[in-house]
Order: sequence, then structure tokens, then C-alpha cells
Amino acid sequence: MDLDAFSLLLTPAGQALLGSLRDYDPARELAEATRLRREHPAELVSAALGQARLRQRGEAKFGADAYRMYFTPDGVEQATRTEVAEYRAARFKALGVRRLADLCCGIGGDAIALARAGVEVLAVDRDPLTCAVTRANAESLGLADLIEVRCADVTEVATDGYDAVFVDPARRGGRTGGASRREYPRTESGGESVRGGGRATTGGRIFDPEAYSPTLSWAIGAARAVPVAALKVAPGIPHEVVPDDAAAEWISYRGDVKEAVLWFGKDPGSVSATLLPAATTLWTGDPLPDPPAGPVGRYLYEPDGAVIRAHLVAEVAEQVGGRLIDETIAYVTADEPRPTPFATAYEITDVLPFGLKKLKALLRQRGVGVAVIKKRGSAIEPEELRRKLKLEGPHSVTVFLTRVAGAPSMLLGRPMEAPPVAAPPAQT
Ligand SMILES: C[S@@+](CC[C@H](N)C(=O)[O-])C[C@H]1O[C@@H](n2cnc3c(N)ncnc32)[C@H](O)[C@@H]1O
Repeated sequence: MDLDAFSLLLTPAGQALLGSLRDYDPARELAEATRLRREHPAELVSAALGQARLRQRGEAKFGADAYRMYFTPDGVEQATRTEVAEYRAARFKALGVRRLADLCCGIGGDAIALARAGVEVLAVDRDPLTCAVTRANAESLGLADLIEVRCADVTEVATDGYDAVFVDPARRGGRTGGASRREYPRTESGGESVRGGGRATTGGRIFDPEAYSPTLSWAIGAARAVPVAALKVAPGIPHEVVPDDAAAEWISYRGDVKEAVLWFGKDPGSVSATLLPAATTLWTGDPLPDPPAGPVGRYLYEPDGAVIRAHLVAEVAEQVGGRLIDETIAYVTADEPRPTPFATAYEITDVLPFGLKKLKALLRQRGVGVAVIKKRGSAIEPEELRRKLKLEGPHSVTVFLTRVAGAPSMLLGRPMEAPPVAAPPAQT
């Protein structure tokens, strides 16, 4: 879709056609296109069908708003989902921010949430189509008074007069994100500081801050020029490239780690993990040393991915009075049940050396038909294992394939039940 095709969508005919395609089935695209081309120009039909598809994709991030919004393929892919953007906007608002420059606004995921929080936003992107889309989004959502869209290279935009900037750079290649093989301790392999403009590795992947557009070093400079700033970065950012004057926050949504954010202007050197949608934050200005490893107890705690990325497993271990099952694995074990929002707790029934035959026999003997297979520090593929197990029976189990004190092991258990809620006092 180019700018001309997008403009057609904003005409009354385009709006009517797009509105009629809300429930269209992409599997029937060819038949639909043929039918619509009898009544509308081909260019409009293809733009409308493309946009209808993008709206359906956008629904996962923007809910019902997606059907009042416009997207580009890259824009929908790169946009911050509403819950994360709203959480960040609330943080900016709580820091007293009133005018903010969103440098790299994309289709406006963050700008929209900021405007809805009452912040006046200058939304900058260098791609003309993306800017037209953001403008249309601001208009369509009734936020045009609060969002000024400017099509420019962010490195040429002056930010004086703004009390905050937010930068969400485009990430080209060098993307990081997967879990590193060694989850513990905090130290990651090698790497130079971002201040040296270098590359660092995390779990064998390359994190190259200069592969960001604009570069991370430029964004850090822009952040330091205003009272408050936040830079969105890949969650795989190695801790050693976080500047000393930044506070690093890792954010997960329903257990999936979405991003890391470097905040400037508040609590330098601190580290936190925020779990959405509950907006529960584990924060420290003074990280604990690595927890000890010890024998597997009755309970196993699986920390949220944001906690692991933030290297706050020791803080969770302290909360639950626990220890690691292995000094390289981010599973915490304890003898007492102590629920925490930062980890999923399981009751462990068996701890065994890894062995397919043994596992198969045990699950058959217990009538297990459903196994949730989790792994950390194991090369076994859960799906392949499940096939080989040929499960049958009415019961279910959670199997952890992991290492205990260096040895490949299997832990069997079940999610810990929530503690019983105290009955209300009897009414007389
Ligand atoms: C990750 S997206 C931003 C997504 C946005 N936060 C949202 O929620 O919709 C990054 C954007 O940065 C823009 N961009 C990259 N380099 C730029 C530059 N030097 N100047 C202006 N925009 C740039 C790209 O066009 C892209 O739209």
C-alpha cells in the first residue's frame, strides 16, 4: 500500500467499503476481491482488503480499537500493545510529564496511550505512509488535538520545550530475544559497554546497539537531553550495556516477555520486572547476590520471564525462602508454600534422573493422559518426548526436564493450588 492507495481509504467510499469488511474471511479473499471489483476501483478494493486484514491482526494488540485504526504491515508488527503502552503512559504521567516527543512513533501505539493519559505528544517518524497512518489514527480515535505528527528523521528534531522523550527504535537484524542457555548467575558472556559503541553477546546471540535505527547510542544521548526519558529495547539486552544513569525495567504480558525499557531521570542503577496486566512490579536498587543451590524441596517456583531477564531470581528466592535447584538454572525450590505473583508455584511429587523408559512406566502406572512438559537446561524437545510417551489415562501432570546439581533430571508435580480463602464470619 502506498500513500495514494491509503488516501483512497479515507474517502467516504473507502470508509464505507472498509467498514463493510470487518468480518471478512481472508480465506475467501479472491472471491471477495472479484465481487468487489465489479462495484469499486481495483486499487481501492486491494487497499481495503489489505487494511481489513491488518485490522484483524491489529485486534490482538488493540482490541476493538483496531477496527477504528489503520495499520501498515510493519506498523502492526512493531506497535506496542495497548496494555503495555498504557502502563508506560501512566508512568510518564506519574512523573509529571505533560509534553512528550515520541521519537519513532510508528503507527502510534505509544502515542495513542500517552494522549489518552492526557499527555501532549509530538509523534515523529521518517516514513511518510506511517505518518499518514498515525495522523489518521489520531483523528479516528478523537486524539488529534493531543497528537501532532511530524514526518522527519528523529536525529534532526529539536526536543527543547518537551519535558520527556520516548524512543522506540526500529530493530534491524541483530534482534535478540530468545532465552540464553545459561540462565544463571547474573553475569552474561563477554561484551563491551554501549558507551564504547561495541557489540555484546548474550547466550551466544549478538546484541548490536548500532543495528537499531536510530542507534541506541543516539537514543541515549537524546534521553539525557530532557528531564525524563524512556527507551524501548529488546528484552535480550545484556545488563552490561545498560548505562549507569538508567533504570532498567523488563515487562511481560501474561507471562510473555515483551520488552525492556531504559528509564532516564528516575532511580538510576535500579532494576525492575513488571508483570502485566496486573501491573505488579518487583524492584530493587541494590540487587541481591546469586542465591545458593540446594536439594529440590517440596515446592518449585518458576519465575516469570521478566524476573529472569531482570536478574531478580535471587529476590524471588528470598521472598519464598528458597534456593536454586542448580546454580545455572532459574528454578527456585523451597520446602514451604509461599505464593508470589512473580513466579508460578508447583508442588513436586517426584525427582528422578532423566530417563525415557522410567518416565513412560511411571506415567502409565499413574494413568496420566495429559502432561504439561516444561524444560530448562535440557536439549529434549517436549513435543518429541510427548509422542514417545504415548500418554493415556484420566490424570494430568507437569513434567520439568532440567538439571539438578548438574545432572539431567525430571521433576514431576502439579500447579500449587491457591491458598484457601478464609470464610467470611457468619452473619447473625
Ligand atoms: C518500532 S517502530 C515504533 C512503534 C511505536 N512505538 C508503536 O507503538 O506503534 C519504529 C519506527 O521508527 C521509525 N524510524 C526508524 N529510524 C528512524 C529515524 N531515524 N527517524 C524517524 N523515524 C525512524 C520507523 O519508520 C518505525 O516506524
